[in-house]
Amino acid sequence: MSRIRRYGGAVLRRLGLRKPPPDPGREFSDAVYRRYGLQPGEEVHDETVQMWLDFSLSSVERGRYAVAAMGGRPAFRGTRVLDVGCAYGGFLVAAAEAGARSLAGIDINDELLTLAKLQLADHRVDAGLERLDITSPDVIDRLGHFDFILCNDVLEHVSDPDLAATHLAALLDDGGSIFLQIPNGRAVEFMIRDGHYGLFGITLLDRLRAEQVWADHYEDTYGVEHYAPLSYYLDVFSQAGLSLRMLNRPPEDLGAVVEDLGRQVDELEAGLATVSLEDSELVEEMRRRGRHEIEAFRHQAELYAASRVDAERNIIARWLWTTYGLTFWELVGRKQNE
Ligand SMILES: C[S@@+](CC[C@H](N)C(=O)[O-])C[C@H]1O[C@@H](n2cnc3c(N)ncnc32)[C@H](O)[C@@H]1O
Repeated sequence: MSRIRRYGGAVLRRLGLRKPPPDPGREFSDAVYRRYGLQPGEEVHDETVQMWLDFSLSSVERGRYAVAAMGGRPAFRGTRVLDVGCAYGGFLVAAAEAGARSLAGIDINDELLTLAKLQLADHRVDAGLERLDITSPDVIDRLGHFDFILCNDVLEHVSDPDLAATHLAALLDDGGSIFLQIPNGRAVEFMIRDGHYGLFGITLLDRLRAEQVWADHYEDTYGVEHYAPLSYYLDVFSQAGLSLRMLNRPPEDLGAVVEDLGRQVDELEAGLATVSLEDSELVEEMRRRGRHEIEAFRHQAELYAASRVDAERNIIARWLWTTYGLTFWELVGRKQNE
């Protein structure tokens, strides 16, 4: 994941850390390799396994990015932090580096909570970890209130994201803030190769059909519940009392973005023409939905090309970028004092 590798010295500086913390132990990373049947440090030849390894092993760096985006050390010093869907525990390590006073992490996956324990021990960080579902009715009684909540790549896995949003808002103290990262299933890049399993066309499908495609390739449980549009998240969080601000900054040359997306859409079209699955009904459905997205994209791209009004071109290009270009929406919400 190339975007992960960017986070380095600059992020540490934004956190107010002049030099990197001491080298952590290796229990966590060794356990991650073993999880994929590999020897620690072994070279990986499968692109999807490489993607999973990169994701697991980069969790501290990704956490540092999120913490820096929310104000770094000046904002985190002395605060109470909760990581929802904490998995590998790296976001808690990052919050500890930024001076958080107390740390809690919840997840529904025992195996990942065990990995989080190893990562926290490697970094000599103390945090309360609990197996707990964010939609569970007693989540607020059990956890209390927080100054910061981190919730990275989790909501698309939650069966009731509306309820999750309500609980997340209730877990924040007045003046507290939440960081959310959510994948965009309509990003053309993800329609061609999804960010969870590296499969073509799966984000175009509804949950039950996606599960059928997934079952052709894998044996355990399909873990993605849904890909919702950005407007859905803005809506449910605003109903829950949190207005979200998008952190992603549009590239300066939006014209180049539209052109690049046009090439990606051609690639998607070619992939749909040749996609092959055992179940022909699934292929038809994937093509039908894919054609719909391709037409919607090309219609707007034509309006963009035809317009001679800068503001209009900018509006269309921004919409195309947010809807089909951005792979992850990064959002911050703050709970107003009542
Ligand atoms: C893609 S992983 C992201 C992990 C971590 N936040 C990161 O960015 O490295 C999603 C995590 O959310 C957890 N999860 C899914 N549904 C959940 C729920 N209802 N409550 C709490 N955690 C959940 C999963 O077990 C998994 O560890």
